[in-house]
Amino acid sequence: MTIDTATGEEAPAEISSERVKDIFSHIAKKYERFNAVSSFGAYRAWLDGMMRQAPIGPDDDVLDIAGGTGDVTFAVARAKKPRHIQCTDLVPEMLDVARAHMAAGASRGVPVDFEVVDAQDIPYADASYDVVTMAYGIRNMPDRPRALAEMHRVLKPGGALVCLEFSTPPNRAWRSLYGVYLKHLIPLWGGLITGDRDGFVYLGKSIRAFPDQAGLAALMYRAGFVDVTWKNYTGGIAAVHVAKKPE
Ligand SMILES: C[S@@+](CC[C@H](N)C(=O)[O-])C[C@H]1O[C@@H](n2cnc3c(N)ncnc32)[C@H](O)[C@@H]1O
Repeated sequence: MTIDTATGEEAPAEISSERVKDIFSHIAKKYERFNAVSSFGAYRAWLDGMMRQAPIGPDDDVLDIAGGTGDVTFAVARAKKPRHIQCTDLVPEMLDVARAHMAAGASRGVPVDFEVVDAQDIPYADASYDVVTMAYGIRNMPDRPRALAEMHRVLKPGGALVCLEFSTPPNRAWRSLYGVYLKHLIPLWGGLITGDRDGFVYLGKSIRAFPDQAGLAALMYRAGFVDVTWKNYTGGIAAVHVAKKPE
């Protein structure tokens, strides 16, 4: 079953895929500002948390899914210095920005290759990566079970998926406040700062329609992952899940 990622309701995959291509191909050049706004300025702290949780060593081959302009790829390069990173995304314009960062030295000498890849149909061999990273990717995918199954397939036995995503604050008062913020303030504020109100309306809707921490963990278990853990950030506005492929 595929869904409309703005509502969580069953719908043809093309509705979400075309919308996401339209949004990200248009905002690619100002995405980093968009990102700072959409994560309420907390993106760096959440990314640091993701790096602390990511079990990546110097001999590892890393696949970054929905890598966008390369924030996770270059954070992994700086923090972990793995053997190689494959930075992939559905939208070529996002990877063009990542390539420009690479040319300016962002990977600090770690080899990085870039390729346009739909996470729901990954063109790589079974068991070819030690770790898969993904930040703010899965929420935008209309066939999440298939995307997670693909990530599981390309991981080596014992490998890990590390996933940073907006999530659900467990505290009811904080959750209500955050709900109002998402619905009313983020389109206004985000629209003013980036000029892309529609992107922020979609962002708020997709976050509200996305499963909570346990729901995402359940999807990961269903795709074959084990030992799924998560850590909340900013009271659960974001969470980093780590899921293992069995040995
Ligand atoms: C919010 S951005 C995140 C980019 C990057 N991971 C970061 O942390 O800055 C979401 C990215 O997901 C990508 N994306 C959406 N659907 C995808 C899919 N089916 N396969 C691969 N990438 C996808 C978009 O093109 C976009 O670049």
